[in-house]
Amino acid sequence: MIAVLASGAGSNLESLLLNNIPIDLVASDKPNCNALKIASNHGVSNIIACKKLKRLEQMLSKNEYSLIILAGFMRVLSPWFVKKYKIINIHPSLLPEFKGLHAIEQALEAKVSQTGVTIHYVDEGVDTGEIIYQHSCPIEATDTVSTLKQKIQTLEHKIYPEIIYRCLK
Ligand code: GRF
Repeated sequence: MIAVLASGAGSNLESLLLNNIPIDLVASDKPNCNALKIASNHGVSNIIACKKLKRLEQMLSKNEYSLIILAGFMRVLSPWFVKKYKIINIHPSLLPEFKGLHAIEQALEAKVSQTGVTIHYVDEGVDTGEIIYQHSCPIEATDTVSTLKQKIQTLEHKIYPEIIYRCLK
């Protein structure tokens, strides 16, 4: 069984669904988020929403999963939950640079010439787990948060399904 956890717009979830990743369950801590609408529109049969993280984790832990995929899930999972499952995340920077929130803004403020995308295993920390794959993205002098976000998300939508297929083999 494969679960996706998301809190926001859900563009990565949609790219996984469009690339036929066999998603059995989508869960969120934000009952009204767009990601849940995307899950429903794509016919995902199990959809769970609960604002309380502990309850959400308890509900999820009734099942076994071959993989749990974080796709814009904005909460830090409990240590017991992280230990119980194989969980991966996608982050919009070349970790360990620019961990946490607003990674794209952080890269622009730091005036670095490139940033990128990291796919990594999830451990108890924030964006600290073992790196599975990274892809860089140059930053042009004319880039704004909006243009850079667009470039990074285009990259995310291509590489996340590819790497997940590899993880499932
Ligand atoms: C992505 O940029 C991802 O890297 C980060 O959160 C964002 C989620 O976007 N973890 P979306 O909800 O998939 O559109």
